[in-house]
Amino acid sequence: MKAIYLDHAATTPVHPQVADAMTESLQENFGNPSSIHSFGRKARQVLDKARLVAAQSIHATEKDIVFTSGGTEADNIAITGVALANQAKGKHIVTTKMEHHATLHTVENLEKQGFEATYLDVDEHGAVDMEQLKHALRDDTILVTIMMVNNETGVIQPIEKIGDLLAEHQTFFHTDAVQAYGMLPIDVGELKVDLLTVSSHKINGPKGLGFLYVHPDVTVHALQHGGEQERKRRPGTENVAAIAGFTEAIQLSQTEREQRYQQYQDYRDLFLQILRDQDVDFSINGENSERIPNIINISFPGTNVEALLTNFDLSGVAASSGSACTAGSVEPSHVLSAMFTENSSCTTNSIRFSFGLANNQENVSEAAEKVAKIVNRLTK
Ligand SMILES: Cc1ncc(COP(=O)(O)O)c(C=O)c1O
Repeated sequence: MKAIYLDHAATTPVHPQVADAMTESLQENFGNPSSIHSFGRKARQVLDKARLVAAQSIHATEKDIVFTSGGTEADNIAITGVALANQAKGKHIVTTKMEHHATLHTVENLEKQGFEATYLDVDEHGAVDMEQLKHALRDDTILVTIMMVNNETGVIQPIEKIGDLLAEHQTFFHTDAVQAYGMLPIDVGELKVDLLTVSSHKINGPKGLGFLYVHPDVTVHALQHGGEQERKRRPGTENVAAIAGFTEAIQLSQTEREQRYQQYQDYRDLFLQILRDQDVDFSINGENSERIPNIINISFPGTNVEALLTNFDLSGVAASSGSACTAGSVEPSHVLSAMFTENSSCTTNSIRFSFGLANNQENVSEAAEKVAKIVNRLTK
């Protein structure tokens, strides 16, 4: 039995062209990009090209791009870096209750260091409340960090409206675009964001790599100290081969973006249609919100996450819940807990299915048939 992968929001398979680019770089380009000799210059060219490709993909310029070890580090540099560099202007940070832990735990860590934070609510449709954001802003707010697309529900947040709202305020605006990048067009100027996070392994690139966009007017305090790499904002010898692969992944994600969007929408529709045809009782979390097509979060009344995920896995379907598994027990997802009331069963019976490169019409429909059978067996 060949397992079917429906967990692309967790990570994606490396694209064959990305693997080729990395292999070639590993075998033929071992120089240190900081060296001035020909070996170094050859490696430097890989970095220069990557920076240009990354910058163009979000309508920025090369010097605004900082390569990092992934989305988590980019979020950390954005949030802690801005907070530490701007604390003379204030110590207040605004974020939301549905952020990825790379953001939430970073903000919580700053609270321990004397910063204050406001965590905005999320409505039952999975969206941030603009009115609450307006009221949360203070004269000493120095950073607002709100994700572009939620990684559990796929709900798109109103980043452009938030950018407009914040334009007149002293605060900097960071968005974690890890799940949006490659699905939605991104123009940092139009969105009026000052900092933006991207991760390579969500777009068929290698793991352990990402980039942070930093607007030229923004100063970030470096979190680690060393050489001059990344204009001292993220020192350390660059992972050249991975960056060569990331460049390929970015280019593919840009040229194929619309086609992928349509394809994943078709997979999602097919998946849902099969559940309906098989009379499965389900509801979609965030159904009435604008969502990206490759992530769908489904609540199956009368079931629980543990039973669902175990049975799916046994039948060869790999999906996930946003729930954290701590010491063998599954804790409800913080995102769904923020969306629903405490006694809603959605927090304990919801599964995220996410589509991507490992899918085709056949394996999506086979997975949906299996899911339908399991849910019906558990509930009927
Ligand atoms: C929204 C979001 N932000 C940040 C991250 C962390 O990125 P990385 O795994 O590259 O550290 C993820 C990964 O799951 C994510 O979904």
